[in-house]
Amino acid sequence: MVGAGLRPARAVELHLTMTIDPTTQTLAQIQATTADAIVSRFAEVRHRFDEQAVVHSTDPENWRIFVVKWAGRKSGVLTLITDNWLKPASPELKRVVGQELNQFKAHVERVLAERQRAIEATAEKTALARDKVDLSLPGIERAIGTRHLIRQTYDELLRIFAAIGFSVVAGPEIETPYYNFEALNIPEHHPARDNMDTFYIAGARGGHLLRTHTSPMQIRTMEKQKPPVRIVVPGKVYRRDNPDATHGYMFHQIEGLAVDTDITFCDFKGTVDYFAREFLGPRTKTRLRPSYFPFTEPSAEVDATCHVCGGTGCRVCKQSGWIELFGAGMVNPAVYGFVGYDPEKYSGFAFGMGVDRLAMMKYGVTEVPLLFQNDVRFLKQFP
Ligand code: PHE
Repeated sequence: MVGAGLRPARAVELHLTMTIDPTTQTLAQIQATTADAIVSRFAEVRHRFDEQAVVHSTDPENWRIFVVKWAGRKSGVLTLITDNWLKPASPELKRVVGQELNQFKAHVERVLAERQRAIEATAEKTALARDKVDLSLPGIERAIGTRHLIRQTYDELLRIFAAIGFSVVAGPEIETPYYNFEALNIPEHHPARDNMDTFYIAGARGGHLLRTHTSPMQIRTMEKQKPPVRIVVPGKVYRRDNPDATHGYMFHQIEGLAVDTDITFCDFKGTVDYFAREFLGPRTKTRLRPSYFPFTEPSAEVDATCHVCGGTGCRVCKQSGWIELFGAGMVNPAVYGFVGYDPEKYSGFAFGMGVDRLAMMKYGVTEVPLLFQNDVRFLKQFP
């Protein structure tokens, strides 16, 4: 072991330089003039070598210096002995010097090779220990997110309508007044614009706005496609509402539109019933209340029997037994005029659901802000 407080490399320097090295001198200079004296000089060198071999083999860097010091071709101790002891030796001593040197050389080579193997084995062992995989340690757990409640509700709604042949289309959130209002039979000064008035994009030519509902996609779809049409349109909509527990400036809708040659009010009511049973349970009943939308005629609010009390009255349905689901109606023939459909030939129905409302109702969420604060404690409740 190296001396206390000395770093190994420093210890090597001291050890190698502080010793007055007899191998730098000739045998005559160190007064080894008999065979016995020569043998004992070799014994001393060998002893020194053995000592240092133990000390310096514990550290790979020290070991490298040590090997050069003893076996280095240019000025290693073996070379020094050859140059300083063997070559100038008198003929009568040369034989014994040669013999001793050969023995010592063999010894040095053997020890160096042995220690070298030991050093490599140790290095390998520490590397193995370092790289060893401990399968008993707990793994790194990456939290996998869940689908947001809104997303889950969307997925459920889309599944319900896909099952009866509706396909999904999406459209722009920035709309023109034409698609958002005019083509839906809401002229410029119509009072129906009031409760939907929206965010207009500053400086936009033609007065672009954030859509107030997904209904513009009724028009965009019918413009592009002849009947039969069966689409649902999920998406964000925006209204200039004052934020409170049940309102934000943005919410999610899903629009539905079915137009064909022989769609009747019965198809409308049957679809509504099917949806209510799928979404709220098989015993759910529906009722239609008269309502008004410029783009449907007649228009209705669809109510369902309360999913909590089944219709007998409870806190959730405010004792009425009924829950308001969404607005809907038969497509107003006036709308067909905007998309080039023959109102004599085609008929259909449309509906527009508030996804946030439906999710809150079904899962008992009482405040809209909870849906968008992304508080994990809230989101975790809907895994
Ligand atoms: N677009 C209407 C709204 O946002 C809902 C609706 C859609 C009503 C389709 C009837 C038919 O309030």
